[in-house]
Amino acid sequence: MSEAVHPVPEDFQAKIGPDELARMREEVEADPHRFWLEQAKRLDWYEFPTQAGDWSFDEDDFHINWYADGRLNLSVNCLDRHLAKDGERTALIFEPDEPGEGRRWTYRELYEETCRFANLLKSRGIRRGDRVMIYMPMIPEAAAAMLACARIGAIHSVVFGGFSPESLHGRIVDCDACAVITADEGVRGGKPIPLKRNVDTALERRDVATVIVVTRTGADIPMKAGRDISYSAVREELATECEPEAMGAEDPLFILYTSGSTGQPKGVVHTTGGYAVWAATTFEWVFDYRREDIFWCTADIGWITGHSYVVYGPLACGATSVMFDGVPNYPDFGRFWETVDRLGVTIFYTAPTAIRALMREGDDPVKAYSRKSIRLLGSVGEPINPEAWEWYWRVVGDGRCPVVDTWWQTENGGILISPFPGATPMKPGSATKPLPGIRPVLVDPEQKILEGAASGNLCLASAWPGLMRTVWGDHERFFQTYFSTYTGLYFTGDGCRRDEDGYYWITGRVDDVINVSGHRIGTAEVESSLVSHPKVAEAAVVAYPHEIKGQAIYAFVTLNAGEEGDDALRKELNQEVRKDIGALAAPEKIHFTPALPKTRSGKIMRRILRKIAEGETGNLGDTSTLADPGVVDALVAGRQ
Ligand code: WT7
Repeated sequence: MSEAVHPVPEDFQAKIGPDELARMREEVEADPHRFWLEQAKRLDWYEFPTQAGDWSFDEDDFHINWYADGRLNLSVNCLDRHLAKDGERTALIFEPDEPGEGRRWTYRELYEETCRFANLLKSRGIRRGDRVMIYMPMIPEAAAAMLACARIGAIHSVVFGGFSPESLHGRIVDCDACAVITADEGVRGGKPIPLKRNVDTALERRDVATVIVVTRTGADIPMKAGRDISYSAVREELATECEPEAMGAEDPLFILYTSGSTGQPKGVVHTTGGYAVWAATTFEWVFDYRREDIFWCTADIGWITGHSYVVYGPLACGATSVMFDGVPNYPDFGRFWETVDRLGVTIFYTAPTAIRALMREGDDPVKAYSRKSIRLLGSVGEPINPEAWEWYWRVVGDGRCPVVDTWWQTENGGILISPFPGATPMKPGSATKPLPGIRPVLVDPEQKILEGAASGNLCLASAWPGLMRTVWGDHERFFQTYFSTYTGLYFTGDGCRRDEDGYYWITGRVDDVINVSGHRIGTAEVESSLVSHPKVAEAAVVAYPHEIKGQAIYAFVTLNAGEEGDDALRKELNQEVRKDIGALAAPEKIHFTPALPKTRSGKIMRRILRKIAEGETGNLGDTSTLADPGVVDALVAGRQ
């Protein structure tokens, strides 16, 4: 593994340098309570908290609270408080699929639009604590919809537009939502996405009282009387002021569904105060945010990255944030850099999968644009391979912009391990060191905490403000999933190596979660979709390395007696997964096999399946515990 070290570029003038970072680390060690209350001062509170963290990861006393006696409203923090001085400052730059057709919203415009949305929700009887689904393209109205929920204390749950109606349905049922905010259609890479039609399908078996439809393309769509409201038809009549609710710091702000190693996706719950503090604090720390910045995080708001670093973090800090509704290769592979030059983007934050896809096209599409406005680059979502890191640094950043490789999870609310761009020497492929107050530990299977340079499972030994608080509707599952594997620790599900310099190298998931292009897919969900097909007897899904996606999905499928596995059936199964989950979960490869390798007690030996999928067929390890070792030869022969 390459372990080149890149020092902080000499002319990168950062707000936080090595001395300041060292001071922060000392402060949080010495007096965490004071340090965390200090961070909370970034926000405006109706009542400033007297308490910071109050938590225990132990089973008998399990609880997590932050700033519990504080009261605030996050939409006020993202909007109202900026108005007096910065009302005319750009809050959001909407960069649609078609380059150059964008628009800008000032803080005042975003405030007014948010209030309109909030008033519309209220007029439909939606109140504090109610759940509202958001299934929208990356348009400014989507941010307004999120902020409107925050304003009235409704709990939003954003569902990525690439998820199927079936997935949307499952989430609506799970959180018992009373409304859906959507758009007529989305457009990505020149192709329409039938959002409203998907919502209608999702609501066939479980309806909601209110569907608000924002006009994006103007497509002709059916509207259900009494339920569906066209936002543009009522917008003019909606008041542009709306009294915010004073929320308790521990009141839920949103639910975001994410896949785990077992069962259906779980609703990760983030609360108001701690999440807001963490999103704003990490935004300032990691991105060295300055007033002049134009910040572009390419993530969709359907993911946590979009919540924390398109909407809440930047807006709480009064920044200008780009909302991108396109793809990296439309109209061509120069799209990112053309947009960077046109908008004057100074901080650019994207995923390794995009970097790898662009790298494959060579340097020319990058070099065709100046990129001189960029001063900082970021990466998130999966491990970045050193080659891609070096390309990002050398070609995109011309060797003058720090690269922040940020490790975190939906459950974490914001970044946990990352360089400080002005203080941390970078090693390509390493997320470097924990942020102040974050305590990663590496643990071996026997629960032993490993010291010094070591490899193990990555856990966190103490809480931070942005840690999730529960799984919606299933607090027991919350404890079981994250706190039961290693006593007194939060288990991330990631494997990790720590080197001699104390740098962390995330090696990827050690559970049955697959990271496809930075999106989390649970193997259990894909398997349950495959076996729902009448011809399928059994399915086992594993990951294999993919040049662009990082990991891709390889499905082993056994069929019912008499059924024939061919390309037509592969297509059908692919369709099945697209219908049940979404295109992002469709297996890249489907391998029909007469049997799966099982132990004598009937447990599928995934270790062997992984090796076969990875093509490591010469090195299958111990197969002596298999009930029928002959299965393996057939599997190797049938490799896709
Ligand atoms: C999983 C979390 C954090 C928002 C996007 C993904 C992997 C994420 C990195 C990174 C290595 C990373 C981990 C983690 N991951 N960032 N910089 N280096 N791995 O959020 O869907 O909750 O996925 O993504 O495996 O557990 P998520």
